[in-house]
Amino acid sequence: MRRMKPTSLLRIGWSNVSFRERPAVGKIRTKKKAKEREGLRPGEALRELISHARIRGKVAEMAQEIRRDFPHDTLHLIGVLKGSIFFLADLARELGGEVSFDFLGVASYGKGTDSTGEVKLTKDLDVGIEGRTVLIVEDILDTGLTLKYLLKLFEERKPKHLRVAVLLDKVERRIADVKADYTGFPIPNEFVVGYGLDFDERYRNLPDVCVLQFGSRGKAKSG
Ligand code: IMP
Ligand code: MG
Repeated sequence: MRRMKPTSLLRIGWSNVSFRERPAVGKIRTKKKAKEREGLRPGEALRELISHARIRGKVAEMAQEIRRDFPHDTLHLIGVLKGSIFFLADLARELGGEVSFDFLGVASYGKGTDSTGEVKLTKDLDVGIEGRTVLIVEDILDTGLTLKYLLKLFEERKPKHLRVAVLLDKVERRIADVKADYTGFPIPNEFVVGYGLDFDERYRNLPDVCVLQFGSRGKAKSG
């Protein structure tokens, strides 16, 4: 097949073109375009910490381990909004067997990268958890204050089992004495975004987990 210009490919649509014929999209992107795509603002930079492929591999391993522990139970996944949505979606699809979902909203971070240390329930569960096998699904364990609050709240509701899965664990930052039953990646004390994690609601849609770095013009709060 004759090599076509990217513009004509766009017009006819990718479905008519074999994979071998598609141009390497990364190569035709300018640096500026890549920055725009990632939503970078002046003074901000991203450094990939965990690629999407590694995340997906780890999530599949975690799902196998969880299912091995509860082979016959309906697993009731409780996603902590909003950071856990991609993790929950991928984990649920890897789990197999019966799975149900619910979501809960908490606010533990103000604007920026600093924790206020205060945890507040902004959205409660839609259904009760009494007698269920519950898995709290969290994006990241940092000080542990959010998880401590959730464990206390949920234990009072008498689930059959209560377990915790976190994708990322900033081990050094722990204040509360809590730990997850299933952990994806221990990470250093750096502010990360992507795969659901945000900075002021931005960067959640990045497929990889990246360290957000602030240059001289960026205003970084310590965190
Ligand atoms: P913790 O209560 O300090 O453990 O904080 C948990 C919550 O803080 C997580 O669910 C995240 O929403 C948020 N958080 C902690 N560290 C980061 C980070 O590096 N990037 C983005 N959000 C974070
Ligand atoms: Mg969160």
